[in-house]
This record gives sequence, C-alpha cells and structure tokens, in this order.
Amino acid sequence: MSKKRKQEISRREFLEGTGAAVIVASAAPALAAQVPAASAAASESSTVPRTTVRVIVNGTPRQIEIEDRWTVAELLRDHLGLTGTKIGCDRGECGACTVLLDGKPAYACSNLAAWADGRTIDTVEGLARGGQLSPLQQAFVEHDAPQCGFCTSGQLMTATALLAGTPHPTPAQVRAALAGNLCRCANYNRIVEAVVAAGSTTGRATQAGGAQ
Ligand code: FES
Ligand code: FES
Repeated sequence: MSKKRKQEISRREFLEGTGAAVIVASAAPALAAQVPAASAAASESSTVPRTTVRVIVNGTPRQIEIEDRWTVAELLRDHLGLTGTKIGCDRGECGACTVLLDGKPAYACSNLAAWADGRTIDTVEGLARGGQLSPLQQAFVEHDAPQCGFCTSGQLMTATALLAGTPHPTPAQVRAALAGNLCRCANYNRIVEAVVAAGSTTGRATQAGGAQ
C-alpha cells in the first residue's frame, strides 16, 4: 500500500472515528440552547393575552379560555380534540381546514379563535348523527370522492353550506362553490358527482347533519 493511500485511509478512519464525537460536540450547544428556549416558550405562554370565548361547537355551547393568538384550527384540534379539521397549508390557500362559522365556510387556519366568540362553529365531526353519515357523506362514500381523504372534511363542509342554500346544485355551481378547496389527489370529478348526487336525491337536500 502506498504512503499516499495510507494517509487517505488514516484520514478517513480518523474522520469516521471522530464523526460521532464531532456531531455530538457540534450539537451540544444547540441542545443546550433549546432548554432555555423551551423555558422561554413556556414562560411566554403564561404571559400572552388570554380571552374567554363562548362558542357553539357542533350544537354544544362551550366556554373556553383561549390565548388570543390561537386560530380556530388550533382551538378545535389542539384544545377540543376535534382533529377532523385538517391543516394543509396553514395559510389560507388549500381549504383543508374549512369549517362553518355561522353556517358559512371559513378557513379555520386563518381565523382567530377570538373572532369566533359568540358564533357557531360546525366541523366534520358534527355531520353524522346517531351513528348515521349525513346524506352528503354517504354520497361521498358511494362516489369514491375521497382518495387520500386529507381534503375531504373541508370539501364536505363547503358542500354542506352549498346544499343548505342551493339544494339542487348543478355541476358548475358545485365547482364554483368548491373553488377554494383544493384536492392534491385531483379527484375533483368524483367530488362534484357526489355533491350533485346528494342534492339530486329527494330528502337529502337539507343536509340535516350539517350547517345549523
Ligand atoms: S390549512 Fe387552512 S387553507 Fe390550507
Ligand atoms: S382526496 Fe387526497 S387531497 Fe383530496
């Protein structure tokens, strides 16, 4: 083995042998820095402004103390355990987080919980009643409207509001209403079919499990 080759190996071996130590050594300041950061976060959390809001969530009156910085999505998911409302973009672009505020579709990620004070919030958890899917949910099942399903709860909430005001929508009306609800799986045709089918069936149109 040449002298040069020996030097290369020994350099590699040295780096391999010390790599873990180097990583630990370089990570140590970062790990140490996280401790005061976490403490600071906890401390900050105890000092941020808080407000008590009264909301009606899926028909149930709730009185909750919130931090003023919480969004409706955070209130629902992190503090009421209603994780059916999904967060996709978290910046008002995808519609995955759509809920109904006073019966109208709204992006839960882009509305502060404080703004919901005194209002009704309807989420996908409130659509089924007595273990029965709402007619719209049933139509989604029958038409294979969900693929991965991540956008589905938002699509359902927007469509629920549409059907409440337009019981028998045309495909064009459904597409227009759902324009703010993106589907990464691009299953739009089946989603539209499902909503039209829900509206076209007598007795389904009122969507009793949805907007109140
Ligand atoms: S998560 Fe709210 S609009 Fe995308
Ligand atoms: S079903 Fe996957 S994002 Fe719509």
